[in-house]
Amino acid sequence: MIRFARNRLWTLCFLFPLILSATAISADDNGKKHRYRERRHGGDNHYAEKYLKPVSNTTYSEHCSACHFAYQPGLLPSESWRKILQSSEDHFGDTVDLDAEAREEIHAYLTLNAANTSSSKLSQKIMHCLDGQTPLRITDIPYIRKAHHEIGRNVVNRPSVGSLSNCIACHRDADRGIYDDDRVSIPE
Ligand code: HEC
Ligand code: HEC
Repeated sequence: MIRFARNRLWTLCFLFPLILSATAISADDNGKKHRYRERRHGGDNHYAEKYLKPVSNTTYSEHCSACHFAYQPGLLPSESWRKILQSSEDHFGDTVDLDAEAREEIHAYLTLNAANTSSSKLSQKIMHCLDGQTPLRITDIPYIRKAHHEIGRNVVNRPSVGSLSNCIACHRDADRGIYDDDRVSIPE
């Protein structure tokens, strides 16, 4: 039974990007027209849908970008964020200092904007692929792992990158919520 569930999950994670790229071909034209229309009318709603919503809470960015890139809430489900905040005393070997007020505000911000509530395409792919799992790492999400499986250890270990967790080293527009593969540039 367990084996069956696991197989099913992996099949989903491998098939999903394929299905998505197939539909992307037909959706592309509409996407372009839509973008054009948005620009003419001066709206930027399209931006929020196609890309992840950039970080917009200063308490979050003050406390959660001291050691690494401030990950968008839409990269993990709210249950993952809850577990991360709950274990802030032992945060991947580090300690994150949070007073009660900051913890509460960050928790509310992450919950409100988590992958399970976000309408961005990337959040939806992440939720689909997780199928109920609540990992502590974005880099443990099967879809994210698969997107990077061709990147060698020697590349990730470069001083200019350091870790796959350092999204913005390669995704230069990551702080704007843009992770498209045509906007990647791996540093030397
Ligand atoms: C004292 C330093 C420090 C602070 C402050 C900090 N982190 Fe981290 N965080 C780390 C380290 C170290 C890692 C592991 C990075 C690695 O493996 O390369 C990490 C990893 C993560 C990851 C997993 C990244 C991955 O690999 O997918 C998430 C998510 C995360 N942190 C969220 C937060 C949040 C939310 C806050 C604020 C409440 C925060 N961090 C504050 C040090 C910190
Ligand atoms: C060492 C450089 C590097 C780092 C660090 C990195 N990525 Fe990537 N990422 C890439 C490359 C290269 C691709 C394109 C892979 C391909 O086209 O096969 C990619 C693809 C992706 C995709 C799929 C994009 C698409 O259009 O299909 C997502 C989503 C993504 N990365 C998110 C992240 C996140 C989130 C992080 C940080 C937790 C991260 N990446 C860290 C290099 C990196």
